[in-house]
Amino acid sequence: MSTIKSVSKESRIFEPPAAFAQQARVSTREQYDALYRRSIDDPEGFWGDLASELHWFSKPTKIRQWDPPFAKWFEDGTTNLAYNCLDRHVAEGRGDRVALVWEGEPGETLTFTYAELSRQVQRFANGLLRAGVVEGDRVVIYMGMVPEAAIAMLACARIGAVHSVIFGGFAADAVRDRVLDAGATTILTQDGAWRRGKVVALKAQVDKALEQCPDVARTIVLRRTGNEITMKEGRDHEWTAVLEGVSDEHQAPALPAEHPLFILYTSGTTGKPKGVLHTTGGYMVGTYVTTKYVFDLRDDDVYWCTADVGWITGHSYIAYGPLTNGATVLMYEGAPNHPGLDRFWEIIAKHQVTIFYTAPTAIRAFIKWGDEHPSKHDLSSLRLLGTVGEPINPEAWMWYRRVIGGDRCPIIDTWWQTETGAIMMTPLPGAIPAKPGSCTLPFFGVSPKILREDGSEAETNEGGYLVIDQPWPSMLRTVWGNDERFRQGYFSRFPGKYFTGDGARRDEHGYFWVMGRVDDVVNVSGHRLGTAELESALVAHPTVAEAAVVARPDELTGQALVAFVTLKGGVTPSGELKKELADHVGNEIGKFARPASVRFADAVPKTRSGKIMRRLLAELAAGKEPAGDVTTLEDISVLAALRGDDE
Ligand code: WTA
Repeated sequence: MSTIKSVSKESRIFEPPAAFAQQARVSTREQYDALYRRSIDDPEGFWGDLASELHWFSKPTKIRQWDPPFAKWFEDGTTNLAYNCLDRHVAEGRGDRVALVWEGEPGETLTFTYAELSRQVQRFANGLLRAGVVEGDRVVIYMGMVPEAAIAMLACARIGAVHSVIFGGFAADAVRDRVLDAGATTILTQDGAWRRGKVVALKAQVDKALEQCPDVARTIVLRRTGNEITMKEGRDHEWTAVLEGVSDEHQAPALPAEHPLFILYTSGTTGKPKGVLHTTGGYMVGTYVTTKYVFDLRDDDVYWCTADVGWITGHSYIAYGPLTNGATVLMYEGAPNHPGLDRFWEIIAKHQVTIFYTAPTAIRAFIKWGDEHPSKHDLSSLRLLGTVGEPINPEAWMWYRRVIGGDRCPIIDTWWQTETGAIMMTPLPGAIPAKPGSCTLPFFGVSPKILREDGSEAETNEGGYLVIDQPWPSMLRTVWGNDERFRQGYFSRFPGKYFTGDGARRDEHGYFWVMGRVDDVVNVSGHRLGTAELESALVAHPTVAEAAVVARPDELTGQALVAFVTLKGGVTPSGELKKELADHVGNEIGKFARPASVRFADAVPKTRSGKIMRRLLAELAAGKEPAGDVTTLEDISVLAALRGDDE
């Protein structure tokens, strides 16, 4: 019996548009195959060559060491990531290029050239040093999406301080746990951040968190929203004061490639947060190379990734990947629905955005809000669309292609994780035909396998556990302060191989289809099914914007399916529609998969990074009170709304 049964029937395929392919870096499948072959057969030669496109104070000769589960990359090289993001471009005559275009939620715009951004980072680096931060210190960045957040990250990287960005949506307890686990000495924060026209009071949360963090020596506070805050004498410093009289020239030190770069706590759905550790050289090369080939950046691109810098996507694909490539990056401070439901589309038209990278959760919200919002704006500047964060339902993919991409833009469905640091599976937009819902093929150097329970390899279209059996430059090095948890969590299920936690299958063209987290797999009448395919069947119904499928105990079948469904705007919920939706799944997939219950919900519980928390829904569906950790839950009020069973 297969580990996870696939029930998907998706067969549409979209070739890269000829005009796109013509100017792409990799423009044919053959070219991709040749590069991929070399990356697997000769990883040292392949990565060594690509690493030399960046600046090293001393060039690495030891490219890769692999002593599972521990990897080292470029170990004897020294470099500086901030230097590669900034100084290198200035030195090579690109100082006048725009590095960052920032749009504030209230509507103001700021523009930084590479030369300006470089000066600001050097100045803040000097400010941090003068304030007493030293190489190796952990610095927590708990800020909104302001340019200073990026400047702070780059300044830390520059001086060799280890940053740990905490998403601004977390509250005091989550901040405290992360500060303590990281052993942070310094916190960079703001009075408040703008969110949907309201102030999120960040400094107040820091004050509360710090009541239990005696080792924090200082905070540095940016004034953004002007709300009242209390400043503790001797501990809390104004951002402006830290910069006062400080030079904007700072010589970037040569740091060893394996110098710790940042810790990022994963937004896991259970348990104590895990500090994923990334180091300098491998992460730099991994994000640089993926950005270059996957987004296929050109000089005239305006690139926008809508993630928050509090997530790995913000680290890798707002800051480090695009800046090492000398790209023009748009950064937006606020919410997609402020002041109107068309804010994103207004921004794309205003700044002539050419590349747009967002998450399925956002796409499903756009679908729910209705086509009239994007239709109001001229989106013809767009040439490439991307998605990351969850499996994208094929119908949501089709909507993205048609309504946002005007049937003209390729879509890259990029599979990766906080732990992988950089994109691992994705189509290269000029070379690889796309299938809606598939992340297609591995990126260079990535060796994914699909395994059965017993560790043998699954057959074509047989679902199984997704593992990666070779190291890659941007892989996590450990869990901060806990090598044992690192080994246990990632390398114990299939010894020596990195286990992703995801279920997947590989189709007859070698394309990968991620079927969701294996913890979410449901078992109905002996069939183990991934949630993504069941949900995709629901989203294929014209009335549905979003769906989450979970199982509840059932005397007859072992488990019965419960579907939580969010309807598109304007659709009236009714008992008939519930039956129609259940029948629809039964017809699409098979009678055994027909949900026993369909519940309409205005929203489903999600993590703060937008992933559906099926564990909570399963507890609700079983008539229990959610017992586990809910601190990562985005909006606690949705739980209350979901409790009532309205069958
Ligand atoms: C899921 C985000 C399907 C997956 C960069 C993974 C995806 C987890 C995709 C990591 C995708 C991310 N298709 N599933 N394109 N991208 N995922 O750490 O379950 O926030 O393991 O990193 O998101 O989430 P994380």
